[in-house]
Amino acid sequence: MAVSTPQAIQTVTAGASLQETARKHLWMHFSRMGGYDADHEIPIITRGEGAYVWDEHGNRYLDGLSALFCCNAGHGREAYAEAAAAQIKELDFYTNWSYAHPRAIELAERVAELTPGDLNRVFFTNSGSEAVEAAIKVARNYFRAHGKGQKHKIVAREVAYHGTTMGALAATGLTPLKTQFEPYMPGGIHAPNTNEYHWPADRDPLWAAEELGRLVEFHGPETIAAVILEPLQNAGGCIPPQEGYFQRVREICDEHDILLISDEVICSWGRLGHYFGCQRYGFQPDIITTAKALTGAYIPMGAMIASEEVYEPFSSGTASFAHGSTFGGHPVAAAVGLANLDAFAEEDLCGHVLRKEDEFRRTLEDLRDIPIVGDVRGAGFFHAIELVKDRDTKQGFDSEESEWLLRGFLSGELYRRGLICRADDRGDPVIQLSPPLVCDTEHFEEIGAVLRPVLEEAWDRVRSR
Ligand SMILES: Cc1ncc(COP(=O)(O)O)c(C=O)c1O
Repeated sequence: MAVSTPQAIQTVTAGASLQETARKHLWMHFSRMGGYDADHEIPIITRGEGAYVWDEHGNRYLDGLSALFCCNAGHGREAYAEAAAAQIKELDFYTNWSYAHPRAIELAERVAELTPGDLNRVFFTNSGSEAVEAAIKVARNYFRAHGKGQKHKIVAREVAYHGTTMGALAATGLTPLKTQFEPYMPGGIHAPNTNEYHWPADRDPLWAAEELGRLVEFHGPETIAAVILEPLQNAGGCIPPQEGYFQRVREICDEHDILLISDEVICSWGRLGHYFGCQRYGFQPDIITTAKALTGAYIPMGAMIASEEVYEPFSSGTASFAHGSTFGGHPVAAAVGLANLDAFAEEDLCGHVLRKEDEFRRTLEDLRDIPIVGDVRGAGFFHAIELVKDRDTKQGFDSEESEWLLRGFLSGELYRRGLICRADDRGDPVIQLSPPLVCDTEHFEEIGAVLRPVLEEAWDRVRSR
């Protein structure tokens, strides 16, 4: 529940002006700025510790979203602050553009040791979109170097989110996010995703994989550079793969000389109980993209991690990957990344997720008696509840109803009761939870205690509408 803490008192005065200043000057991302008025404050988060954050009024929230799938090791870790401070004193900044520095080298080695197979080449970026952008560019460049410059298209999945830069946007499968920015990079193809909740009962479990193969054939395998997939698809609500899905996709890629990119901007760093999400589902990608929790998100950093084979054309003679950014591999971010990996190893955060994921899931499964709960799905500490109007027919909510239900009631009410999670309607309406990996029984109980009355009330409102 939202409670006041003594620390809050100091922030109240500042908070009043922060609201006004934010409305005047801060252009928030993916936000309806016009929606903030006298009755609708901008939520201003001022402090974090462990699994909790506090707002400007001193209300405490369980961060059931890990600050957008980012602060996997929880908030407020001193060791990360010390690592950043020590690095700033030693070497504030040097670029990875023609130069190297110790922390980027050390972090690249640590990351390479953790990746599956020979994904040994770590190209640092500043965000997930940039990591995806680098992966798309390296895939195109790799084929060009092998005399197959015609291979340029990217296959992704419907409703999947891969970022906002113009290449990543071409891979993103969310029509409303895309069409308003056309034309973006040509060559984005979208296969069905694996959300089997709405599939006919007798559908072949590998249908989605076979459909992807069919699309590859249809668009011409000789024109396709890469398939990009999240191990567990975030948008659409924590959509897991069918058993054997990735193995079949890997076969299709191998058969047609197509690179497989595992977009793990969310699914890496323990979210699914492993350092990398592909390890959970036992497949070997050619490239992994990551960001967010690589540094616990205490400071921005991403990476595109490539296999030796993908790296090979850029490794000798006058060849180079003509791509980069000033800040990629920033020493302060790399120092924090190393501190983050120390915490993962010392506290066995991945092991903790594997030990506790069933208990976390049970918290959500226990809500199935509420008629609005249609499906509960996910893996690790990354789960969603799909909301339905009619459980027998699995009928969901149309966009006007979703607007009323998610934005008009659920988001605000969950937040008011002290739980930050995501009420999302990119695809069918869902509530998503991805709590920090330090969460345990007490946090799961708190999540359940907020969700139950809110979902019950949501159902009452749906019935009486
Ligand atoms: C799977 C995936 N790829 C790429 C991105 C883009 O990352 P960023 O917001 O850091 O650019 C995201 C962001 O949520 C993501 O979930």
